[in-house]
Amino acid sequence: MSLAERLCANGVRLEIRRIAPGDEAAFADPSEPLVRRRASGAARLAARAALSALGGPADAALPRTPGRFPAWPRGFVGSLAHDDGIAAAVVARAVDFAALGVDVEPALPLREDVAGIVLLSSEHRACAADAVLGRAIFAAKEAVYKAINPLDGTPLEYEDIAVDLAAGRATLRDGRWLRLAIERGERWIVVALAR
Ligand SMILES: CC(C)(COP(=O)(O)OP(=O)(O)OC[C@H]1O[C@@H](n2cnc3c(N)ncnc32)[C@H](O)[C@@H]1OP(=O)(O)O)[C@@H](O)C(=O)NCCC(=O)NCCS
Repeated sequence: MSLAERLCANGVRLEIRRIAPGDEAAFADPSEPLVRRRASGAARLAARAALSALGGPADAALPRTPGRFPAWPRGFVGSLAHDDGIAAAVVARAVDFAALGVDVEPALPLREDVAGIVLLSSEHRACAADAVLGRAIFAAKEAVYKAINPLDGTPLEYEDIAVDLAAGRATLRDGRWLRLAIERGERWIVVALAR
């Protein structure tokens, strides 16, 4: 089963969109360069498709809040990510989930100095046999941040989040935990789900 199918079975819609010329029209922020606006527009097109599939508004603006996360229509939670080539959106009903986060990262090893900052010693051990797993742990921490930061503003550093890829779980220093749904291809796509 694909990641999108697994999430769908749990009431979460994942939409991935290849970024294309013209997507910038979906997020007109004149302060940003075209490449960035195009990626943000593609993410909003993906999010509108996800919202629409869940019975939500297909024309939601999804503006940036002062905290830089998107404002979701009442009754929905979600998250956006983009890189050079694709944009991703995850959306669910707020009655089902407190918050969602998504991140997209190339399936390549982390630079050693970055791994030193991002990974706990247990996480270093978990990716000893396959360095590419370090990038999935990084993506999981970014996805957790994107879920938790809009929820209550908790300041999170990498060492505040312990990721167990095998268990599909991320645990915060304060004891809260989020489920992780992960797919490995050319990229890691990681979704963090908070109930
Ligand atoms: C928020 C953050 C994780 C985004 O990651 P990124 O690699 O820059 O960009 P991505 O493409 O993955 O995601 C971009 C999207 O994240 C979302 N986003 C931005 N700030 C966010 C926040 N505070 N909370 C939730 N989502 C946020 C936006 O939707 C943005 O897309 P948009 O600008 O088109 O609206 C990152 O910029 C950041 O601020 N990190 C600092 C926090 C951190 O690293 N803490 C360490 C522990 S995890």
